[in-house]
Amino acid sequence: MDTAVVPVPLGDRSYAVEIGPGVRARLPEVVAEIGVRKVAVVTSRPVEEVPDPGVPYTVVTVPDGEEHKTVATVERICLAFAEFGLTRLDGVVSVGGGTITDMVGLAAALFHRGLPVVHLPTTLLAQVDASVGGKTAVNLSCGKNLVGVYWQPQSVLCDTDYLRTLPDREWTNGYGEIARCHFIGAGDLRGLPLEEQIAASVRLKASIVTADERDDGLRHLLNYGHTLGHALEHASDFRVRHGEAVAIGTVFAGRLARALGRIDDARADEHREVVAHYGLPLELPSDVDTERLIALMRLDKKAMSGLTFVLDGPSGAELVTGVREDVVATVLDAMPRSGR
Ligand SMILES: NC(=O)c1ccc[n+]([C@@H]2O[C@H](COP(=O)([O-])OP(=O)(O)OC[C@H]3O[C@@H](n4cnc5c(N)ncnc54)[C@H](O)[C@@H]3O)[C@@H](O)[C@H]2O)c1
Ligand SMILES: [Zn+2]
Repeated sequence: MDTAVVPVPLGDRSYAVEIGPGVRARLPEVVAEIGVRKVAVVTSRPVEEVPDPGVPYTVVTVPDGEEHKTVATVERICLAFAEFGLTRLDGVVSVGGGTITDMVGLAAALFHRGLPVVHLPTTLLAQVDASVGGKTAVNLSCGKNLVGVYWQPQSVLCDTDYLRTLPDREWTNGYGEIARCHFIGAGDLRGLPLEEQIAASVRLKASIVTADERDDGLRHLLNYGHTLGHALEHASDFRVRHGEAVAIGTVFAGRLARALGRIDDARADEHREVVAHYGLPLELPSDVDTERLIALMRLDKKAMSGLTFVLDGPSGAELVTGVREDVVATVLDAMPRSGR
């Protein structure tokens, strides 16, 4: 496979996600198609990794990571746009991980009430998830992703050459999201070349986003493994990375679905096998307690009527509300524990 092109059909906001080695070279054509006069490229990566967009441009370098994914950094980005004299005829490009695509997407949405943005995600997690679907957000000191808007990009270029420098832990982080795709409609991706796994994950996300752009229903499916995952990230003070937490949450989702009689033992085992295949963690850290995890899961955005999970079942994954806390506690207590 050379380049995969995955359409995201959203009426007049439709765009394509291109995946493959070297696709950053497509940037000038993409920028020409959008028809902007000049662009601001915002990145946390070395400037050599920024492709020439083919129109006059400036490179704005900002720090990445959760601690910098703030309103303050978005203001800094917007100030740089103003300094470069971006107008409504111009555009924005992001080059970086998910914290960069989230912040730059938001800055693009806000500046002059909305400029076109093209994302060049450079982590596996950003390529399979963060850069696609139009959600943008930054953190407040009291919580993650609390301030954001929906702002679809004009194009996403997932250049897999960027991933060559990715540290092991960032691979794990991205594979956590790929693993959960197995249970929400992507089918078995194990053993496929990386580009195809990314393309399949993006195709799945695109189909869900197309059906439910604003997260009113079906988009919940993308939260497979995430109810426990988010709680675990918090309970471990973010020592457990998002993708790792989602992996453990996926194993848990299999066990919980089994305990509720929604799936059989073999399907529950498949959860563990898929997560293990990607070299992802399977065990809860020994120092997070069940009560704390349940308390955190009560705060989950999906938990409007009791503990709520996306769970596998006879007709595939679906949102299950009002799950009994004693059942959740029993399944959590029975999870294998690691010493870390
Ligand atoms: N908008 C959405 O729909 C959506 C979906 C999923 C996740 N997210 C967000 O994405 C963020 C996580 O993204 P992330 O995991 O990419 O985090 P990140 O942006 O912090 O990047 C992780 C690390 O990888 C480094 N890095 C980036 N590209 C690299 C490369 N090519 N080589 C080596 N190192 C590189 C970064 O400097 C950083 O240290 C979270 O804030 C999350 O909320 C958003
Ligand atoms: Zn996730």
